[in-house]
Amino acid sequence: MKENEIMKMLYDVQHPAKGDRNIVELGMVDKIEIDGNRVSVTLAFSKHRDPLAEYLIGSTRAALVRHIPGVEAEVKTVIKDESKKPVGLNLGLEELAGVRHIIGVASGKGGVGKSTVAVNMAVALARLGYKVGLADADVYGPSVPKMTGTEGEMPEAYREGDKEVIMPLEKYGVKWMSIGYFAKPEQALIWRGPMACNALKQMILQVRWGELDFLLIDMPPGTGDIHISLVHDIPLTGAVIVSTPQAVALADVEKGVNMFRNDSIRKPIFGLVENMAWFTPAELPENKYYIFGKDGGAKMAEKYGIPLLGQIPLVQGIRESGDDGEPAALSSRPDGEAFVLLAGKLAEAVRNV
Ligand SMILES: Nc1ncnc2c1ncn2[C@@H]1O[C@H](COP(=O)(O)OP(=O)(O)OP(=O)(O)O)[C@@H](O)[C@H]1O
Ligand SMILES: [Mg+2]
Repeated sequence: MKENEIMKMLYDVQHPAKGDRNIVELGMVDKIEIDGNRVSVTLAFSKHRDPLAEYLIGSTRAALVRHIPGVEAEVKTVIKDESKKPVGLNLGLEELAGVRHIIGVASGKGGVGKSTVAVNMAVALARLGYKVGLADADVYGPSVPKMTGTEGEMPEAYREGDKEVIMPLEKYGVKWMSIGYFAKPEQALIWRGPMACNALKQMILQVRWGELDFLLIDMPPGTGDIHISLVHDIPLTGAVIVSTPQAVALADVEKGVNMFRNDSIRKPIFGLVENMAWFTPAELPENKYYIFGKDGGAKMAEKYGIPLLGQIPLVQGIRESGDDGEPAALSSRPDGEAFVLLAGKLAEAVRNV
């Protein structure tokens, strides 16, 4: 039994007066102590005689008993002045101190292959010898665990002084972090804005990234509140925009671009990645079919004055390797090499900013 497993169980304990947010997210879990069969959880309250204290103590104990057969559960309380500590989130940026460049991978529209590009770009940068991490910021539909074959793994988490530190998983030479390692898939879908934002920032700010040349952030689709909050609170170096060549996707690119270019943000955009630029059937590797139109990405890049960083073909191998958890960028097939080329261009663009 580990502390982070207990933490996961406590997601079940909702605070009835706080929009049913759970006690973990509200920062109420002050301490977890495990001693063989005994588990002790300390809940932090901001005032004495909280009218809901008894209720929350009871439901915390019930959650432990429900999840751990035969547990000897103890729930203690401590009073903490909320005004001295941000609720549920440690906003310190120490964990990013060794990270040289933080790059958001964004798109205006969902389903254009943003996660595929982010994961493969990370693997390709590692192939080029860079130290790389990737944070999956798509709290509503995390795809990194599946795409990297790390589903079901549980990152180590421990307490250091008064903060919680999460260790990233390592595979294919890249450090990975995703909310998918902690939340049940159906749970994230019902998270409301602030909770999703907090969870997301924890996946970036409380992770012991160590020394990295690049930390890529697979941004959630769209351009909503989460994005604005993320771009404000995380010291991004800049962004990469992913699009497919169709006209509709290109119209959405504009939203993605504007997200980083507005006056209060002003982050550089290193370039556009045109995904599914053409289709190549496995049996005819020399053929290119421009099923979504030709040069859409190049035209859009020109329109916005950003470089076209790379073009990735639509090939069955990319989809299959995503499903199998073995990123295409590991292979020496043409699609694998396309990602390595792209990674090289990105590193160069970042160097030149
Ligand atoms: N170049 C490609 N060739 C073949 N399949 C691809 C390619 N790019 C993405 N896919 C497939 O398309 C699907 C969607 O890709 P992905 O999940 O990366 O998109 P996304 O933009 O991150 O989506 P979301 O908006 O849901 O986060 C996946 O099944 C992926 O394997
Ligand atoms: Mg995605």
